[in-house]
Parts: sequence; structure tokens; C-alpha cells
Amino acid sequence: MISKETIEQVLMRNDIESLIGSYVNLRRAGSNLKGLCPFHSEKTPSFTVYPAENSFYCFGCGVGGDAITFIRKRENLDYPDAVEFLANRAGITIVRDESPGKYAGAPKFDKAKMLKMNVDAAKFFHNQLFSDTPDAKQALSYFTNSRGLSLATIKHFGLGFAPNSFDVFSKYMLSRGYTYDELVAGFLCGRSDRGTYYDAFRNRVMFPIIDVSGNVIAFGGRVMDDSKPKYKNSSDTPVFKKSRNLFALNFARLSCEESLILCEGYMDVIALHSAGFTNAVATLGTAITAEQARMMSRYTKKVIISYDADEAGQKAAMRAIKMLGDVGLDVTILKIPGAKDPDEYIKSNGSDKFKRLLESSKSRFDYNMENILSKYDINVSADKIKASRELVKLISETYSLAERDIYIQIVSKALQLEPKSIKDDVDRAIAARQRTRKKEESQKVKQDAIGYSDRVNRDYIKAPAVAKNEEHVLGLLFYYPEYRKKVFDEALLSADDFFTDLNRRFFVFLEERYKASDDSLYGMNEVFNEEEIGRAMKMKTLRMQLSNSPEILLDSIKTLKAGVKKKNSESANTYEALNELIKDKNVRK
Ligand code: CTP
Ligand code: MN
Repeated sequence: MISKETIEQVLMRNDIESLIGSYVNLRRAGSNLKGLCPFHSEKTPSFTVYPAENSFYCFGCGVGGDAITFIRKRENLDYPDAVEFLANRAGITIVRDESPGKYAGAPKFDKAKMLKMNVDAAKFFHNQLFSDTPDAKQALSYFTNSRGLSLATIKHFGLGFAPNSFDVFSKYMLSRGYTYDELVAGFLCGRSDRGTYYDAFRNRVMFPIIDVSGNVIAFGGRVMDDSKPKYKNSSDTPVFKKSRNLFALNFARLSCEESLILCEGYMDVIALHSAGFTNAVATLGTAITAEQARMMSRYTKKVIISYDADEAGQKAAMRAIKMLGDVGLDVTILKIPGAKDPDEYIKSNGSDKFKRLLESSKSRFDYNMENILSKYDINVSADKIKASRELVKLISETYSLAERDIYIQIVSKALQLEPKSIKDDVDRAIAARQRTRKKEESQKVKQDAIGYSDRVNRDYIKAPAVAKNEEHVLGLLFYYPEYRKKVFDEALLSADDFFTDLNRRFFVFLEERYKASDDSLYGMNEVFNEEEIGRAMKMKTLRMQLSNSPEILLDSIKTLKAGVKKKNSESANTYEALNELIKDKNVRK
């Protein structure tokens, strides 16, 4: 738990206008600010920042909240990490005592101790590799003979071996003063249903994952044969988040000013580094995340994607290219001829050849165009038509007009067609896509209006009118602390007056905060998820735009109570009717 004082301080020192302004181009609109929403794509700004309220809300996608909610969503962080992020930004140091709830059953632990535990584990695995047992010798030979790694490389990456035993590792760690609870929290041990403990990594060669500050934060372990699963990786722990780290960035960050090479596998990265390409990194067994893309953009200008040559690798590359392009990185993509991955390519062709390959890496457009042209024989008109369709689609996915013009020229030359006809087709493709999007958007608005597809408040559809009125009342309570006083002091409403579960939870939350003499709403971050907070913000924001009075409040409360009564009696009636029916049947039988 982070203390209320800390959060207050963090929110106070992070002015929402300049915080969001550093991510979104904001224009003043009266006392508020507007911009294009960073959470969904839109052409006209519906994303609004309310400096006086210290909040934001998007009328397009319903995301909203305070500075913490914004950072949670934008930086893709969980709640405590978002607070820490903002604290760092404002130069506040916070002492964080990790929330135990997140790692169910885990004891309170100490981050520093966990990092030390990981170093000790890494040393253990590394030393095992050189121990005098048949197993260890086999593991070392796997690295040196099967994978062609030098001893220097093995040491450089701190590679290791987890022996084929359920307890050798944990016994050792216990002797160094760590507890089973700590080992489990760090994903180094598992706990069986019977309550016994076992080493998480067994009979695997080990790859320590090291962050940019040099901490050992996690491990990946590979089998030495074809058995499955090929890799076992640490799950997220208090000191490790998969989606926020890259393998070998600790080394690559020193030589990546020009570019980073992004691979799929640990072994690719290791092979590249030992061949002199020390700017190679890999994701940790997952597809690239937006966070990793942003991280890379902080270290370099350009990323060369060097994924496996198979179809899965190439598909993943297409996703990566988009992610990386979205954060403003210059991206090219490598096609690896005659080998399954960079590791294998270097082994059979050497580093000079790989260097040339890097130099010939292609932009997204060139890469795709080459693929399309290689599929078709443009001397056959049916093929030429197909190629031109695919190329038109490709060009239409480019946002920059200048780029589009250039591609139109290139394609028209390649297909020997008039640039004008290609341009017309591209324009048509763009227009068609916009129409579909508009249609989808308006459909979504319609559905939302009648409460379908309301994933946030699932009860909405059961009684839209009642739910709407609940939102009315809650909006007033969210917006006006003095209305909270009135409602709670005079007990005008109780939790039972709410029909939908989400709105009842909002009410209970407000009541609890009020009873704790707390006017602020930021505690919501601990109780509600981002979508729910967005919903609360919607209620509040809609009220902010209307005129309000205590009469309106009292009126809404009256309607609310009546609505619930009606809803309840309706279901009671159905119940009775049903009972009658059953009785009737029984009688007839
Ligand atoms: N991976 C994983 N779990 C698996 C398979 C793969 O976590 N069961 C992750 C690992 O991070 C691995 C990466 O995906 O490094 C790429 O997978 P793959 O190409 O299969 O492995 P390589 O590291 O290239 O290993 P090798 O060359 O030994 O096949
Ligand atoms: Mn591979």
C-alpha cells in the first residue's frame, strides 16, 4: 500500500495539464483543453483535460480519470508502478512497500533481497556449468559443441546450468539464508498442492535476464534436447515484468546509438553479440509490447527486425514493425535467406555476410512490395491485377502523403501503369476504409446508447433506464462533495437502492470515503479497474456540463428509489407468475 500522503503529494506535483501535454497535443477550449485521444484513433478531438478537476475524459472511447489513471494506461503500468513513475517524474522518492495482495500468498518481501537472491542463483547456475558431474559436462558441451559458444561468451552472458534435481538448488539457497517463500515469490521454486517445494528450473541450460542497471531480474531455461517445453521462463515477479524488459539491453545500450537489432530468441542475440553485433536484443518469449517499443525509442533511432525466417516469424515481424513505427522509430526488416534464424545464418555464412544482410534490410513498404511482386508474374494480366490490388492496399496504409506519392511512382513503374490510375485506386481504398470505420463507429455509438456491449457495467442492459438514473445520481455525487454530505448525513440512499452491481460498488466506495472524511476520489485506483474509472469519470464529466441543483439531486434519488422498487417487484411478479405456472401444471397432472 502506498500512503495517502504520498499519493496526494504525487498528484499535487504532477500538474495534469503539463503531464498529459507531454503526450498529447492539447489546445485550449475555454477553461479546459482538448486534443486527439491517445487511446483510440480519431480525427476530431474528443479527449478533454479538466485542469480544475485534475482529470481527463475522452468522449470518444470513455477513458478517463486522474494523472495516475492516465499513466497507468498510457505507460501500461499497474497502479503502484504508475505512482512510482509519477513520483520519479516529480523528483519525489517514495518508499514502496509492495502490495502483498498482488502476489497472493506471498509474504512481504524486500526488492533488494530478491535481487540479491537472483544474483546468488545466477552464480549457482553458472558454477554448476563447470562442476565435475556428467550432467554438468553435458550441459557445457551443449553450449560449446552443439551451439558453438566460446567460454568467453558463456561467461559474458553468465550462462548456467540447473541440475536435474528437485532440491539441490533450493537446499543451496536455503543454506544462503533465503526462505521458500522468497524463492517461490522469485519464481525460483514451485509449491505443490501438498505443500512441498521443488526447484523451478531442472536440467536446463540457464539464461539470466539482466536489466539495464545490471540487476539479475529473471531467468530463462532451455532444454538440451527436443523435449517440451523448449523454454521455461520466470513469470512476472516483484522485480521483473516481461513486457518491460529486453534480453541483452544491458549490453546493447552501449552500442545502439545508430540502431538496435531485434531478434526473437536468446540464442540469436548471443550469436550476434559474439559475432560483433553487440546491439542485438530480444523480447522475452512474448510478442513485442508497446512498452518495449517505447523503451527502444529511448535508446535508439532505428530498429532492424531480424526475426525467424518462418511464417510465424514473418507475421510477428509485421506486428513489430507497426508497434515500432508507432513510437516514431525508423524500422527496417531483414529477410534471412537459406537459414531459419540469425543464429543459424551466422553460423553458416559468417559475420561479414550478416553485415551485408543488415545493410540490405528493407523498409516495410519495400519488404512487402518485394513479397507481393515475387508472388505474381506481372506479364500475365490476371496476376498483374492482383499485384496492383495488393500494392494499392499497401500504399493506402501509409499515412504520409509524400510517402504515398513516392510509392505510387515506384509501383507505377514496377507494374508499368499510369501513376494517375494507381493514385485514384489508392484514394478510393482510403475512402472506402474511412466509410467502414465511420459505419462501425456509429454502430458502436448506437449499441452503447441502448446498453448493448456494455462490458463495464454488465447489468446495464437488464434495466437501462434504471442504470442511467443511477449514473445521474452518482455523477452528482462524484462531482459535488457537498451532495455527498447531504446524501450520507441524511441517509437519503443506501446500497440497496442500486440495481446494477457496478454502480452499487461506486456508491459504497463513496460512502466509505465519506465516512473516512476523505473528499478525494483518487483511492478509486485501488478499487476499480481503468475501464470502471473511465465510467465514473463519464458520469462526473456529464454532470459537470449540466446545470445542477439540490432539487435535481433529490428528484433523481426519488426516481432511483421508485425505479428499483419497480424493478424488484417486476422480478417478484415474474417469480410469482412462474410459481403459478408450476402449480398449475402440477394440478393438471
Ligand atoms: N520461447 C519461449 N518458450 C518456448 C519457446 C520459445 O519462451 N517454448 C521464447 C524464448 O525466449 C526464445 C524465443 O521465444 O528465445 C524464440 O524461440 P525459438 O526460436 O524457438 O528459440 P531460440 O532461442 O532461437 O532457440 P534455438 O535456437 O535453441 O531453437
Ligand atoms: Mn530461433
